[in-house]
Amino acid sequence: MSATATGPLGGQRILLCVGGGIAAYKALELVRRLRDAGASVQVAMTAGAQQFVTPLSFQALSGHPARTTLWDSAAEQAMGHLELARWADRVVVAPATADLLARLAHGLADDLVTTLCLATEAPLSVAPAMNHRMWRHPATVANVALLRSRGVQVIGPDDGPLAEGESGPGRLSEPDAIVDGLAGAPAAGRTPATGLLQGLKVVVSAGPTYEDLDPVRYLGNRSSGKMGFAVAASAARQGAQVVLVAGPVQLETPPGVQRVDVRSAAQMREAVAAALPADVYIGAAAVADYTPRAFSPDKIKKTGTGETLALDLVRTPDILAEVARQEDAGLKLVVGFAAETTNVADYARQKLEAKRLDLIVANRVGVPGAGFESDDNAMTAYWPGGERDFPAAPKVRLADGLVELVAERLGA
Ligand code: CTP
Repeated sequence: MSATATGPLGGQRILLCVGGGIAAYKALELVRRLRDAGASVQVAMTAGAQQFVTPLSFQALSGHPARTTLWDSAAEQAMGHLELARWADRVVVAPATADLLARLAHGLADDLVTTLCLATEAPLSVAPAMNHRMWRHPATVANVALLRSRGVQVIGPDDGPLAEGESGPGRLSEPDAIVDGLAGAPAAGRTPATGLLQGLKVVVSAGPTYEDLDPVRYLGNRSSGKMGFAVAASAARQGAQVVLVAGPVQLETPPGVQRVDVRSAAQMREAVAAALPADVYIGAAAVADYTPRAFSPDKIKKTGTGETLALDLVRTPDILAEVARQEDAGLKLVVGFAAETTNVADYARQKLEAKRLDLIVANRVGVPGAGFESDDNAMTAYWPGGERDFPAAPKVRLADGLVELVAERLGA
């Protein structure tokens, strides 16, 4: 069950906030339906919600650990709550209890869920669920009116039998009805039919390559693939048909992206060639510059090699330069990356020229909080006659900026 760009919520990033009511169990099914509809889903739970359903269930269904508190340092390190709030294209609160609606209406930020809802700029949808007397209480009526006046989408509640044996309005809408409601409302930054790269094919390479020495050893590098994956995801959100050629990384395939997994530079070259022709090539992979001259089918033993071991390495073909030279690939824009520790601008411009690129994105590696394994980065893009700085930001945001620049350069 993976997200696809084709469903009614294709490619959308949905943050589902689960409130503490008996209907919380229906939120499990909602995760499933949201993903079936093409969305990627992350879940945040109130303390009350955890009394009804376990975070583990949401993790299993969403494919991401469910967030339960502001004070979890491990979860914060993986993705800070503000980043999660920025990540979302829309935020959905289901079930939204009377208490949660009140706290949202009055802008409280006294737990993870309300903080996320206050911090996000994404559109908010709420699916209320509560006892019918609570739903009709003037306080709740006023809170819902206040939320609506701020543009919050209110889905449901349904009328019918309630948990306590009573009947009336207060039932959480069925998951399918919630998905339908969401599909009919705009999400943040969504331009499905008029994306900046609508109708274009984009090939992105990402991650490291591993060059095998023998059956147990390889030469590799510390590229995480996060930047390339973020670029592929962003291009897909902008309507491009995206092929992502990925070296060995532990990352989820972005929604709507066709992924081809490879290991070595030679395999990456082949997969990229097979993915062409295309309109845009973005070489974000950290391709090994050298590979062992020969693969040793037997494990290399230390006996007999003395104190030192010299490896016989040969240059790998420069995939990016090859692609840029290829006349019949239909390419309108070829984009390279340069990871440098010094003289960033000089080296980047040299590579732009030497490899005959249209655009190169340079970043400084070896500084804390940026580069290969980090979620954040800072970079500068250079093209003949111009440059643009991208100050430090999460890679997902930088990728959006880069894709906008790609669209601009295509139109230039
Ligand atoms: N690249 C490639 N094939 C290679 C090597 C690099 O396609 N065999 C691409 C990368 O995807 C990236 C850019 O080239 O877009 C990086 O340029 P490169 O000159 O390889 O950078 P470095 O390895 O950092 O080079 P140097 O060590 O000379 O700085």
